[in-house]
Amino acid sequence: MCGILGAVIHDGDNDLKSILLPGLRAVEYRGYDSAGIAVMNGDGISVSKKAGKLSILEDSLGESPITGSVGLGHTRWATHGAPSDENAHPHWDYQHRIILVHNGIIENYSEIKDELLSKGVTFKSETDTEVAVNLIATYYDGDLPTAVRLAGKRFRGSFSMCVMAADQPRLMVGIRNEVPLLVGHGDNATYLASDITAFLAYTRDVTYLEDGEMAVLTDNGTHYYDLATGHEIEKHVERVEWNIEQAQKGGYDTFMMKEIHEQPNVVRHLLERHLPSANEPVQMPQLDELTKENDFRLVSLLGCGTAFHACKVGKYVLEGLAKIPCRVMYAHEALYHQAPLSSATVTVAVSQSGETADTLGAVKVQKAAGSKIISICNVVGSSLTRLSDQTLYTLAGPEISVASTKAFTCQLTMIYLVALWIAEKFGKEDPAELRRLKEELLAVPDKMSAILQSEKQIEHLARVYRQVRHFYYLGRGISYPVAMEGALKLKEISYVHAEGYAGGEMKHGAIAMIEPGFPSCILAPKSPLLEKMVANMEEILSRNGEVMVITNAPDRFSKYDVHVFPFPDCPQVFSPLLMSLPLQIFAFYSAKLRGRDIDQPRNLAKSVVVE
Ligand code: F6R
Repeated sequence: MCGILGAVIHDGDNDLKSILLPGLRAVEYRGYDSAGIAVMNGDGISVSKKAGKLSILEDSLGESPITGSVGLGHTRWATHGAPSDENAHPHWDYQHRIILVHNGIIENYSEIKDELLSKGVTFKSETDTEVAVNLIATYYDGDLPTAVRLAGKRFRGSFSMCVMAADQPRLMVGIRNEVPLLVGHGDNATYLASDITAFLAYTRDVTYLEDGEMAVLTDNGTHYYDLATGHEIEKHVERVEWNIEQAQKGGYDTFMMKEIHEQPNVVRHLLERHLPSANEPVQMPQLDELTKENDFRLVSLLGCGTAFHACKVGKYVLEGLAKIPCRVMYAHEALYHQAPLSSATVTVAVSQSGETADTLGAVKVQKAAGSKIISICNVVGSSLTRLSDQTLYTLAGPEISVASTKAFTCQLTMIYLVALWIAEKFGKEDPAELRRLKEELLAVPDKMSAILQSEKQIEHLARVYRQVRHFYYLGRGISYPVAMEGALKLKEISYVHAEGYAGGEMKHGAIAMIEPGFPSCILAPKSPLLEKMVANMEEILSRNGEVMVITNAPDRFSKYDVHVFPFPDCPQVFSPLLMSLPLQIFAFYSAKLRGRDIDQPRNLAKSVVVE
């Protein structure tokens, strides 16, 4: 939940501030409670840290360069200790010999702290990080890698760290356990970071650390070690496809709006990879091993937040098109639930980041129970992909806004492709109907573009509802999880209380909230359930509630006093891909009109790497 960046310069001192601050800006989506940097030069290590967003640190540092040979930085999402200057990273040990930044949680920190207190160590902050750095310092006798390794073996929990010693001017050590840490190989510098975007301006050549591994960066090379044994290990350098333009705002004021507008292109690109034309079979070489229908006796879908909503849509799609029974659980629920599993269960784990601790935990449990793991993931080389038997990449490019948009529609697209692949491979659908569905799916990106042309209309709806404090989102069948996703988008960036309900559930309690002016968004794609949604709407209107309808059957609503946003016609099964866009744009403008920080909503962070 924090962003880390370290840099070791190979050709003498450099302005590290100009490397660390933009790099931290790129990973600030991971946490923005406080930020800090430490730079080593001939005079020792200078540290600057501040509570609040990175911009506060930037302002406090002013224009002058901070030159040095080795430096590290951090942007924090608080776990232990409130956001404050004191609790911000980097942290020194009490004798100012070792300094580090940390992402994750040291679960056994209080036991280590007691041990250190008994040895006379003193503490300034409430963080587990300060305990970690002091433990490393107790092992330090001039050999930093060994001290980090000995301490690292004692830490329990999920963590990645970058560590420097005040008397080692050209050395940095990084360790990883269950929280990402990558080495970036630039021309004249080597980097350590929690996300490739931190150093993407300098290099696309990356080495991924695995759990229990340590990287030792010096100005003449990087070496890797196993934390448990201390043995040196070989690691590969991989070149990633992302480029720096994708990680910038590209003329938009916010990443969220940029990412909303990228959807037609990223969905088209993903479709082109797996479905070049409606006349050809879906290409899914990653699934070729699954040759028998029995391999799919049950699909267990796992995810959190928006990814969970993609899983919920996935159940309707896989059961409807591929005729395979599916179970959907929040990953954090699946983690502690002993559900019966077998080798005929395929676990499909959905995650943008591939680093969500809950999802990783649940996948480990299901893998241990014998389930095959297929992940639908956006970040190449992330922890989830390394736990999976196969990964289906969503190819959405970096998603930086905390609120997920393009990752969601790409997750849905991948689920449709998998369902069509299964239906085709095992003859679950009539070939003519399959061809029609493929044509319709290939037509979705252009329809998405058409919706984006109507952005002003949705902005107007956000103005209509700019004063409201609550919102219901109602859908039935495949629209129900879309309603949940619409409500999540609204609440996470505008802080308006919103709930996504199955339309049929209203009368069982939720309708009690409806009073004059209470707003509801009705998702009403053309389907056998359309009239049921009309009935829901009438129940709300008869209690003087306000209604906004997202529909591809606008005529059906013309006689009602409601706001209608029409979306292009499509088969019901694909309507989530189209209805999601107006919901995202509505949430965006609702947040903008309320003056919210759209890309960095309060209390949230993009990658939730702690349980
Ligand atoms: C909401 C959002 C979160 C994530 C959730 C899972 O807009 O972004 O709900 O969807 O934290 O994250 P990933 O997909 O990275 O596992």
